Amino acid sequence: MYKIFDTVDDVSHYTAQRLIAKITAKPTAILGLATGSTMKPVYAKLLEHMQQTPLNVSQLTTFNLDEYMGLAPQHPQSYNYFMYEHLFNQLNIPAQQIHLPDGLTSDIEAVCSAYSNAIQALGGLDLQLLGIGTNGHIGFNEPNTCFSSRTHVVELSEQTRIDNGRFFTEQSEMPTHAITMGILDILEANEIILVATGHNKTDIMAQLFDSEIDEALPASALKKHKNLTIVLDREAAALLPEQALKNAI
Ligand code: GLP
Repeated sequence: MYKIFDTVDDVSHYTAQRLIAKITAKPTAILGLATGSTMKPVYAKLLEHMQQTPLNVSQLTTFNLDEYMGLAPQHPQSYNYFMYEHLFNQLNIPAQQIHLPDGLTSDIEAVCSAYSNAIQALGGLDLQLLGIGTNGHIGFNEPNTCFSSRTHVVELSEQTRIDNGRFFTEQSEMPTHAITMGILDILEANEIILVATGHNKTDIMAQLFDSEIDEALPASALKKHKNLTIVLDREAAALLPEQALKNAI
């Protein structure tokens, strides 16, 4: 299902409301969370709403999608830092219920399998929030990642290093590898919301709309999912065919 809104503000409001609805219906929900500039206004809306209407988040458990290899949690570009800055510092979710892959581990295999196992042991993700890379990656599952993948280490593609390198002082500081939840971990979530905004997502959203389910385009795996909402602003939706726009609510 597509939801298309005029502005980023509307997109973020809608997405935050979906999170709030989930947390209200199930205070013990297991949430899969994402980073990226698309998520900043979503988390800001969620926090804004919670100032008006308090929400009990103390029983939530969260699993983030991914983390750069080699960055400590205190590094301003680490996803750990991002999540605390934009969300967790303002919420009273107990620290032991917050999970991000450990980008500093020397035991990659153990950390990866423990991450996927922990999600499954809790009964799976109730809701997974996703952004999308300009090359169609979800989490850091780059093109041609196996759709049956679990949490694993990836070598970041050239495109991703260019896209995300802009956030680092020097392009050369941008990590070459990351740990990401696998495509299968993501697909096993009960509900998935993919959010994309702005003109740099226009092309990939048109490609995704047209694509078959194909490992060359990681986000196309989501077409298998029974409860997927794709939330776009007008810019990201600009090249979608008329028919998609008509069906979108
Ligand atoms: C990163 C993350 C993805 C995210 C993507 C989009 O590469 N690993 O999980 O979806 O960026 O980021 P943005 O929202 O900044 O466009």
